[in-house]
Amino acid sequence: MKDLVKKLDKSQIKKIPGIRDLSRDIQKELDAVEEELNEFTKSPNKIVSEISSYLFKNAGKRIRPALLILCSKLCGYSGDEHITMSSLVETIHTASLLHDDIIDNSNTRRGQESVHTKWGPNITVLLGDYLYIKTISNSLKSRHRQIVQILTDVSSKMIGGELNEYYVSWNLDIDEHNYLDIINEKTASLFSASCQIGGILGNAQDKKEKILADFGTNLGMTFQIIDDLLDYSGDEKTMGKPVLSDLREGRITLPLIYTLQNDGKKNRSRILDLLKKKELDKSSLEEILHTVQSNGALDYTYRKAEEFSIYSKELLQQLPPSVHRDALSLFPDYILYRNK
Ligand code: FPP
Ligand code: MG
Repeated sequence: MKDLVKKLDKSQIKKIPGIRDLSRDIQKELDAVEEELNEFTKSPNKIVSEISSYLFKNAGKRIRPALLILCSKLCGYSGDEHITMSSLVETIHTASLLHDDIIDNSNTRRGQESVHTKWGPNITVLLGDYLYIKTISNSLKSRHRQIVQILTDVSSKMIGGELNEYYVSWNLDIDEHNYLDIINEKTASLFSASCQIGGILGNAQDKKEKILADFGTNLGMTFQIIDDLLDYSGDEKTMGKPVLSDLREGRITLPLIYTLQNDGKKNRSRILDLLKKKELDKSSLEEILHTVQSNGALDYTYRKAEEFSIYSKELLQQLPPSVHRDALSLFPDYILYRNK
């Protein structure tokens, strides 16, 4: 594993198809997480089982479960509660995406119709609520009260972040600082919680638990900044979701923030005029995209993501060397170089 870490560079990372290839020694655990997630498909409630089958058969990247498992093992954990906890963080993530796709008017997720497009918003809201409350109820079986607290705290943070993001839609005064606060709450908080919960299961001392939580935060920041970059520069087919959707919905993310603050006065007022209309047709979208692409905003956004990924690697270096630390140290580059 050590050699793999040393040898990896950007071109090689791109060839790594998924999380499982970053962490080969946790395959069985990831399979066990899938089995727990599959329990929803056996629900006596027909609607829950039907939509859960649709949702969980088209698996996401499972980054959060892999992080939780690796962090617990890095701290010497050898029980099986990490499987349940991993399925809980993945279920919170899934529930949040159900709601997010309604809020963002997104019709595609993971290359298939989003749940609200297929079943409508009412059923989707209720299913999200159902998955979410099941998570909290299952977490109560743990003897770790602190973990239950973390799961509820992270849920309110995610909701707060999503609320704030929606509230400042079309607000062209938001700056990088506001943006980073929002993505920390809505996205990085769950990465952080996943790593911290792994540490708690492994009885990590406070300092180690904090390093793991901070590692997760920085990884999550990298993840969301790249997500927002891909909205401007990615390929719709590869990503399995639409591009330019942030712009279309008035979400002012880092590429646009940079453009508004660093482009010439003439371009800035032109973009402001286009955005003020709030209904962006194809030619307005293309015009804004062209300006964002031509002023270094995409490069700046990538560099910002890279800063967080570098810091997350530095944090890991504060922990004693192990195969699990080696596996975790592959995540920052995997997330930074991803194209979906
Ligand atoms: C995706 O962001 C959304 C999130 C990371 C968080 C969404 C949170 C909520 C809807 C609050 C509800 C939370 C719970 C616990 C039920 P994005 O739109 O930038 O990503 P995308 O491009 O993948 O849609
Ligand atoms: Mg969204």
